[in-house]
Amino acid sequence: MYLLAIESSCDDTSAAVLKDNTVLSNIVASQEVHKKYGGVVPEVASRAHQENIVPVVDVALKNAGISKHDLDAIAFTRGPGLMGSLIVGVSFAKSLALALDIPIIEVNHMQAHILAHFIDDPIPAFPFLCLTVSGGHTQIVIIKNHLEMEVLGSTKDDAAGEAFDKTGKLLGLDYPAGPIIDKLAKEGKPIFPFPEPNIPNLDFSFSGLKTAIRYFVEKKQKENENFIAENINDICASVQDRIVSILMNKLKKAVKQTGTTEVAISGGVSANSGLRKVLTETGAKENWNTYIPRFEYCTDNAAMIGITGYFKYLNKEFAHQEIAPLARYLF
Ligand code: KG4
Ligand code: ZN
Repeated sequence: MYLLAIESSCDDTSAAVLKDNTVLSNIVASQEVHKKYGGVVPEVASRAHQENIVPVVDVALKNAGISKHDLDAIAFTRGPGLMGSLIVGVSFAKSLALALDIPIIEVNHMQAHILAHFIDDPIPAFPFLCLTVSGGHTQIVIIKNHLEMEVLGSTKDDAAGEAFDKTGKLLGLDYPAGPIIDKLAKEGKPIFPFPEPNIPNLDFSFSGLKTAIRYFVEKKQKENENFIAENINDICASVQDRIVSILMNKLKKAVKQTGTTEVAISGGVSANSGLRKVLTETGAKENWNTYIPRFEYCTDNAAMIGITGYFKYLNKEFAHQEIAPLARYLF
């Protein structure tokens, strides 16, 4: 079975081709155009998707060594995401499927981040916990089987990726700041004490941290106007250390609460080297089996949409041509 998968929920246009559960190609066109605005501009993103989608799909098919006539189904991200961006991928998938007379499969982007763990070995055993941390979401999910999962906790305000990006903006770093903070943190020490919020249950909050960092930096700049430039590595190390500890403390709580010691992370922030390291160390200490996706399957990509589409295909979960994108899409 050959499946084409399309991802266009935010600012990456991506297409992948799978043969059953094997990824043959996974092409991602990132939109550099948003850098100068310090964040994703929805209208600019949807126009860029329109320009990118045909060439990206062409290259994905070419790299997989197949023609569009070999396809058996097309999977696409239905949501959550930016409406204008989603419309491009959904419309493209529907029209190509109509022309080829093959079924379409709708995919929830957050579920796909989790099922990215089924692309490569080792794969987690059910039930497992997954901390999904991206630019738009922060969730702890328990996965009972490929298509049955439950959100146990989520953020009340900013997502973990937003905490990285907004703090970075405050420090004068480019968008997205997550990977830049990650890099600078490696050269610094977490010497600045940023607070850990006290949020009940398995929920998160990052807006207080962002405010605390802003006040701290403003105060220090009154004493020394070069404070940021002179301490950027230590500030980044301190920010990252605190975000990672907030995430890990909730994950430990989730393990205690559910008794599950199969623990995975996914989403753009799971590319963070600090989080990857602490998860691995905690797993070794606490006797958890830990799972971290390959870098290219952490940030937005169509391969994860493809693997989710594959499981839905096996289950014969096809969508109708009337289907519309959903900016908010809970599962
Ligand atoms: O999953 P993703 O590609 O897109 C969304 O669905 O949001 O996640 C993007 C987020 C951005 O906030 C970006 O700053 C963050 O992931 N990110 C990182 C790293 N790489 C990407 N955050 C921290 N460290 C990284 N290495
Ligand atoms: Zn994502």
